[in-house]
Amino acid sequence: MKKESISNLSTNLTNLSNKPNFFPLSLNDLVFGIDLGTTYSCIGIMRNNNVDIVPNNLTDGRKVIPSIVCYKEDLDEDMKDRWLYGNAAKNNMLEYPESTMFESKRLIGLNFNNKEVQRDIKLWPVKIIEDKITKKPQYVIKVENKEKKFFPEDVSSMILKYLTKNAQDYTNSKINKVVITVPAHFNNFQREATIKAAELAGLEVIKIINEPTAAAIAYANIILSKNEKKILIFDIGGGTFDVSILKIKNNEYYVLSSCGESHLGGEDFNQRLINYVMKEIKKYQNLKILILIIKMIKI
Ligand SMILES: Nc1ncnc2c1ncn2[C@@H]1O[C@H](COP(=O)(O)OP(=O)(O)OP(=O)(O)O)[C@@H](O)[C@H]1O
Ligand SMILES: [Mg+2]
Repeated sequence: MKKESISNLSTNLTNLSNKPNFFPLSLNDLVFGIDLGTTYSCIGIMRNNNVDIVPNNLTDGRKVIPSIVCYKEDLDEDMKDRWLYGNAAKNNMLEYPESTMFESKRLIGLNFNNKEVQRDIKLWPVKIIEDKITKKPQYVIKVENKEKKFFPEDVSSMILKYLTKNAQDYTNSKINKVVITVPAHFNNFQREATIKAAELAGLEVIKIINEPTAAAIAYANIILSKNEKKILIFDIGGGTFDVSILKIKNNEYYVLSSCGESHLGGEDFNQRLINYVMKEIKKYQNLKILILIIKMIKI
C-alpha cells in the first residue's frame, strides 16, 4: 500500500497562503504544482487556501496549455525565437506536422520497442526513432536544416520550462521547487524520467504525487475529517483513464488500489473516430491518400 503524506507540503502552503501579500519578491521557497498532462498541462499555486491556476499570460490567458512544442523553420529572418509552445505550437501543427512534438507523456520512461509506444507512433506525423544506446524513443525534427533528436524528457522539460516561465511572470517570483503529478500506474522508470525532465528544466522536484491523490487533495476541505474515509476517484484525461480507491486518515493519503487504462483518454476517442472514418473512406481511396487524411485528422 502506497502512502502519500501531504502534511509537510500543506503546512508550507498554508503558512504561505496566510500571508497578506502572497507574492513578496524575495520569497525563495514558493512551491508550484504542475499537472504535466498527455494533451494539456497547467501550473498552480496555493493562495488563500485555494489553488490558483496560472493563466497563460503570453497568449490568450487560458489556464491549460497544450503539451506541444514546435520548431518553425521558415519564420521571418528577424524573428529569433523559432520555438513555439502550447497554443502557438498547436496552431502551427498543421503547417509543421513533422516539426511538432507532442504526447511525450506517452513515451516517457518507456523503451522504443514497447508495444504501446509502437502502436502510438505508427500514425504520428513526427518521426520517432530508437536511440541505439539507451533503447529509448527519440523525436527527430529539422532544426536549422539539420536533423535533431530529442528524448521525451527533453520535450517534457521544454513544456515545464514554458509553464514555469509563465508562472514566474505571473507571481514575479523565481521558481525552482515543484510538485508534479503522474498517473497512479506510472512505473519507476516513468517517474524517474519525469523527475529528469524537471531537472533538465532547472527545477527541483520536492514531491511526485499520483494524479488521483492530487484530485483528492483538491477536495480536501470537503473530505478531510478525523475519521478514516475511503473515496473513489475517476480520472479521465487526454491519454489515460484511471480509477483509484484512496483511504484518507489524519491528512495522509493511501492509494488502496488503482487500476488504469493508459489508452482510454480523449485522444483515444479521437483515434477510434479516425479508425471509423478510415474504414469508411478505405472503400473509395487508395492507402497513401488515406494515411495523409488520417494524419491531418490527428492534427
Ligand atoms: N467537453 C469535452 N468533451 C469531450 N472531451 C473533452 C472535453 N473537454 C476536453 N476534452 C478532452 O479531454 C482531454 C484533456 O483532458 P486533460 O487535460 O484532463 O488530459 P491530460 O491531463 O492532458 O491527459 P492525462 O491526464 O491522460 O495525461 C483532451 O483529450 C480533450 O479532447
Ligand atoms: Mg491529466
